[in-house]
Amino acid sequence: MLKVTKAVFPVAGLGTRFLPATKASPKEMLPVVDKPLIQYAVEEAIAAGITEMIFVTGRSKRAIEDHFDKSYEIEAELEARGKKQLLELVRGIKPSHVDCFYVRQPEALGLGHAVLCAEKLVGDNPFAVILADDLLHGEPPVTSQMVDLFNHYHSSVLGVEEIPRADTRSYGVVDGKTWEENIVKLSAIVEKPAPDAAPSNLGVVGRYILKPRIFKHLRALKPGAGGELQLTDAIESLLSDEQVLAYKYRGKRYDCGSKLGYLKATVEFALQHSEVGSEFAEYLNLQSRRVDQREDATSDTRESVDAV
Ligand code: G1P
Repeated sequence: MLKVTKAVFPVAGLGTRFLPATKASPKEMLPVVDKPLIQYAVEEAIAAGITEMIFVTGRSKRAIEDHFDKSYEIEAELEARGKKQLLELVRGIKPSHVDCFYVRQPEALGLGHAVLCAEKLVGDNPFAVILADDLLHGEPPVTSQMVDLFNHYHSSVLGVEEIPRADTRSYGVVDGKTWEENIVKLSAIVEKPAPDAAPSNLGVVGRYILKPRIFKHLRALKPGAGGELQLTDAIESLLSDEQVLAYKYRGKRYDCGSKLGYLKATVEFALQHSEVGSEFAEYLNLQSRRVDQREDATSDTRESVDAV
């Protein structure tokens, strides 16, 4: 049984929701506190035993390659100044047992097309797909939970969570029967259905463990939702060949493709941060006390006005 040693990171998207920040730099390089989103995603893959990182990139994404490459200037400077900890931090971004590969997606034709661009690098192996926009906090990390399931059932596994009905237009939504606690055996999957057409309230988050047979279905894709070649449609088609499982992962998701989700992640990760966590908590407490005081003062004034 082949092990999951490869992960595909589709990073060619334009990130228009974060303009102007993403005009000249990739959205995957947006930091949550002090680490870019793509590094969280790669660390999650490394924790799951994955050693080959395949980035499907596009124009203006050079910063991602640089981030996982050696930086002679920074390393020389830190060494000269004796900043050992920082040097280790910079060198640890890509551990020596990990390899990075890059392939271009020349046109933004959709997630299915992006994954297909990685076909030659993935070959006949099972692989993970990790969307860095979805920052997942799980213990153990979510990709590890999914790789364990894959090793047990030898089936493709999709990470899912319960989503509000009103939001189905933002997700791939699955249909199927409960197989075991937290596991659903897929009977169908639809990309971005309207709430009244959605088969369930289980939405796919940006984590997939796929068997290589998916490529046959990716090659045959026709434009789907939004006129794009959708990974979801290839998975629906894969169901005619083999079983696929949906897994309600243990953990919390921050949708860092949206400003609100990104802000929530920033606050929560900052509160946990070893260097700034406690001071930041104090700051937030102080701010909320001030807001409470202001509200009390406003209601006091209102009461005295009412009394007059
Ligand atoms: C993509 C997938 C969708 C999935 C979502 C998770 O959509 O197409 O099936 O539910 O990621 O984040 P996107 O968010 O790129 O529109």
